[in-house]
Amino acid sequence: MSPQLTEFFDFLRIPSISTDSRHKEDVRDCANWLVQKFTTMGLNPELHETPGHPVVIARSEVKPDRPTVLIYGHYDVQPVDPVEEWDTPPFEPTLKGDKIFCRGATDNKGQHFAHILGVEEALREHGDLPVNVIFLLEGEEEIGSPNLAPFLEQHRESLACDICAVSDTGMIGPGIPTLTYGLRGIACLDFTIHGPSLDLHSGVYGGAVPNPATLVSRIVASLHDENEIVQIPGFYDSVVPLESWEREMWASLPDGDSATIAETGVAGLLGETGYTALEQRWGRPTAEVNGIGGGYQGEGSKTVIAREAMAKLSFRLVPDQEPEEILRLASRHLKQQCPDSCRIEVELGHHGPAYVMDPHSGHGKAAQRALEKAFSDKPRLIREGGSIPIIQSIKDILGVDTLLLGLALPDCQIHAPNESFTVTNFEAGIKLNRALLEELGTNPT
Ligand code: BES
Ligand code: ZN
Repeated sequence: MSPQLTEFFDFLRIPSISTDSRHKEDVRDCANWLVQKFTTMGLNPELHETPGHPVVIARSEVKPDRPTVLIYGHYDVQPVDPVEEWDTPPFEPTLKGDKIFCRGATDNKGQHFAHILGVEEALREHGDLPVNVIFLLEGEEEIGSPNLAPFLEQHRESLACDICAVSDTGMIGPGIPTLTYGLRGIACLDFTIHGPSLDLHSGVYGGAVPNPATLVSRIVASLHDENEIVQIPGFYDSVVPLESWEREMWASLPDGDSATIAETGVAGLLGETGYTALEQRWGRPTAEVNGIGGGYQGEGSKTVIAREAMAKLSFRLVPDQEPEEILRLASRHLKQQCPDSCRIEVELGHHGPAYVMDPHSGHGKAAQRALEKAFSDKPRLIREGGSIPIIQSIKDILGVDTLLLGLALPDCQIHAPNESFTVTNFEAGIKLNRALLEELGTNPT
């Protein structure tokens, strides 16, 4: 195994699950591991404490006459459950053919580590870089980056840059260079229906009292009509419609409807009428149930009316929907749906806006040239359905656009058991970083 892969495996072994407080020290160990790595590269790393998990910054030597590129990534990972569905231990990187299986392999350790190694290679070969580089690696992306925007505000001057580059998105297929010029935003909330003051015998009281599990189901069902159009009043008011050039461009990509069916294993599609699967996934807002529960879940039956039931919702947003406004509209809708015989409690969660940049801008073209160099093929231009809320904050606070040059493949199973990253893309990522920094450094944009 190459020394680069050996090192990558060491990075992967650290179980830096940001949402789970039992892994708090592991997240810190992971930040320290990066600090060590940057120290060996001569990049003078800084570990910054936040109210949550640390931020790691590293910088190359500053030359005032060349552009500065901020490379953002996240070293935290998602939880591993359901752990029994992993074929190999989630934090023991396992190479099978071209695939490295491990939690965080793609999302996002492999992708930003390739950038780190690209910089390391260039420094080793030339003792210098075509641009000034600042690495910004956080440990809270998977929990909504609660402390990163304030961090950017505080360090606005020392993080001043000309452009940001991020590999935390996908490619439409193996070997197909992909520039992502937009991400959906996100807004999360939980709601609980409180009914009787204690669990009840469903024979003795059923039929006369509200059943919270039934009401949660009814309220959830009120979110969409039969055409899968979201029924929250005002939800679509500020949606910017897809432009015809985008719809045409996406229609020219390999068939997204059948790819979506193949990737997900569903028997058929079920989405907003009038849009293709790619349009629904990349350019239209949604309301999703991420969790729902209440009542007896064990073996056999238990005739009970549970005193409460809950659901966890998230909304994916597109320009110009405002996350806070969507949460306000959604919570008003939910409350209106709850009958007086019950009490509804709505808890608002993390949120972040959608992001779109111009892929034909000078920086966008430089990214396209770099992708073409790394993959020897013309880049495809897409938007993605996932969210990286900090990207819009980078625009708002640091005033720069972000080039999203992700390397996740459709079958890499991010957030799911058996997440993987290919050695091919790991190596392509190193090449891509070098091409990108060269394009940004030597070609005026
Ligand atoms: N890397 C993903 C986002 C992503 C995935 C973008 C695929 C494009 C394609 C990121 O780590 C992530 O999972 N983000 C969360 C948002 C967060 C606020 C929890 C998401 O999209 O659910
Ligand atoms: Zn993720």
